[in-house]
Parts: sequence; C-alpha cells; structure tokens
Amino acid sequence: MRASVFLLPALSASVWAAPTFPKITAAVSDNVQALSQYFNLVASKVQQSRILGQAPVCDLPKVSLPAAAAGLPPPSPGLYLKHIAIGRGTQNYTCDLSNSTAVPQAAGAVATLFNASCVAATYPDVGAMLTRASLQFDLSESEALQRLAPSNLGVSGAHYFTTLTTPYFDINTPQWQLGASPFGKNASIAAPADAGKGLKGEGAVALLKLSSKPGGSGGLQEVYRVETVGGSPPATCQGMPATFEIQYSTQYWFYASKA
Ligand SMILES: *[C@@H]1O[C@H](CO)[C@@H](O)[C@H](O)[C@H]1NC(C)=O
Ligand SMILES: *[C@@H]1O[C@H](CO)[C@@H](O)[C@H](O)[C@H]1NC(C)=O
Ligand SMILES: *[C@@H]1O[C@H](CO)[C@@H](O)[C@H](O)[C@H]1NC(C)=O
Ligand SMILES: *[C@@H]1O[C@H](CO)[C@@H](O)[C@H](O)[C@H]1NC(C)=O
Repeated sequence: MRASVFLLPALSASVWAAPTFPKITAAVSDNVQALSQYFNLVASKVQQSRILGQAPVCDLPKVSLPAAAAGLPPPSPGLYLKHIAIGRGTQNYTCDLSNSTAVPQAAGAVATLFNASCVAATYPDVGAMLTRASLQFDLSESEALQRLAPSNLGVSGAHYFTTLTTPYFDINTPQWQLGASPFGKNASIAAPADAGKGLKGEGAVALLKLSSKPGGSGGLQEVYRVETVGGSPPATCQGMPATFEIQYSTQYWFYASKA
C-alpha cells in the first residue's frame, strides 16, 4: 500500500479537527512563520502528489542523515536506520544561586517521541518544518491527544535521563516494539546557524551522536539528535531559579544492529 495515501492527510489532519486543535503557545513572528511555512509545504506536497499521480514510497533504509550532521561521525558499519522520532519536550538546567558568576548546567531532558519515520524518509523538508512547527504547540495537549500537533503523528516512545550522563530512550509502544536502551555521548557539534529558535528566541541545542550503553534491547546501537529547535539555556544564571526547563523539539534517528 502506498504510504502517502495515509501520510499526507496525517500531516495536516488536526487542522480539520477543530474542536481538539491545541493552543499555540507563542506569537513571536519567527514562530508564526515556522507554522505557515509548514502548512504551505504540506499543501504543496498534496498538490505535487496529485500532479505526479503516484505516491512516493516510505523507505527508511535508503534515507541518509541531514547534511548538517556531516560533522558528526557516521553511523557504524553494519547498522541500519530503524526509526526516526520527533522528540518534543524540555531540556532541564540548574543554577547555583550561591554563585553570582554561575552559568546554567545541563540537568537532563524529558521528551515524548512521535513516530516520524515515514514523513522524514519521504519528505525530509516537511519533517524538518514539522519539527520546528511542533515547538509552537503546548506539549501537554499533544500528549493528551497522543498526536504531535500540528500533525497527526502518533506516539512512538519516551526519552528521559536515568543519570546525569545517561540519556535513555524507550521506543516500545503497544503498536511498535522497537527497543529501549541507555546511551552515552559519542560526539557533539553546534547546531547550524539557521536552526530553529526556541519559544523565547533561545538557540538550538547541539547536534549529537550517542552510543548505546549495556542493557538495551531491540539492537539499538546509536542515536543521532538532528534538526534541533530551541532548548539552549541563557548564557548566565542571572535572574534564573535553581532549576528550570527550556522547551525544545528535535529529531532522533535510531540505528540498530540486525540482531
Ligand atoms: C512508525 O515507525 C516504524 C518503525 O520505524 C515505521 O516502520 C512506520 O512506518 C512508522 N509510521 C509512520 C506513520 O511513520
Ligand atoms: C562560579 O561559577 C563560575 C562559572 O561557572 C565557576 O567558574 C566558578 O568556579 C564558580 N564558583 C564556585 C565557588 O563554585
Ligand atoms: C525535568 O523536567 C521534567 C518535566 O517537568 C521533570 O519531571 C523532571 O523531574 C525534571 N528533571 C530534572 C533533573 O530536573
Ligand atoms: C564514537 O563512536 C565511534 C564508533 O563507534 C568510536 O570508534 C569512538 O571511539 C567513539 N568516540 C567516543 C568519544 O566515544
């Protein structure tokens, strides 16, 4: 069956589901632009697929990481791309209030993962725009609906930290049992200059390559964080509380061994 028969309606379905359309959290002009660009892009894909008369096929194994990830080490030989999720959540930080020159320290992250395998593989530009647009919607409402606003993509897992240096990904749901594993940082590069800004104009968090730690399942070996939007802390702790969160969204690409 042709993937995009379902995909294109799913990418804009919540537009028509007016009664459950989540609140937009921000009105900064950049952010409004992210939304209108997203909807325009979806509309042009709908138009294109009508003109072409045939739908593209959703083919994960053939997809490569976005060009901006070229500065990270490539996926290890023998691994295959198993899943792409849009992660929407918060980066957490702490500030040492007893130190007037302290800078915010990373204290983990919490995100809900939404299944974006098909859209990122089929229309990488729509996937990137959706990652930006999703930051503008209140996460609690996306969670309540189990759909990533402003699309209809469903939940594929959860991301959190089990220690300060151990990001954990659980991509098992009743619909998709894809694995779960602790990871550690392998490499990091700054987000590109044109990466999406946060709700208050915060810079985008770094692009990352993570490698699995022992104890995982599903053959999950490496995760890339790409297409980051927002999430960075202020430069100093001035005026900040002891702990705080910065909203972010991103794409996580999961590579697995064929175990
Ligand atoms: C959900 O994820 C699985 C595994 O990556 C993929 O095969 C499937 O196409 C995805 N569904 C959508 C709608 O992207
Ligand atoms: C205060 O914060 C600065 C900047 O992070 C750091 O270099 C310094 O060691 C800290 N001082 C104390 C007493 O922790
Ligand atoms: C980070 O934020 C989440 C969401 O509010 C919270 O549940 C979690 O406890 C926070 N974690 C840390 C380390 O502060
Ligand atoms: C990153 O991963 C590569 C490939 O698995 C490995 O050779 C390298 O030692 C790792 N580097 C770090 C800093 O973990």
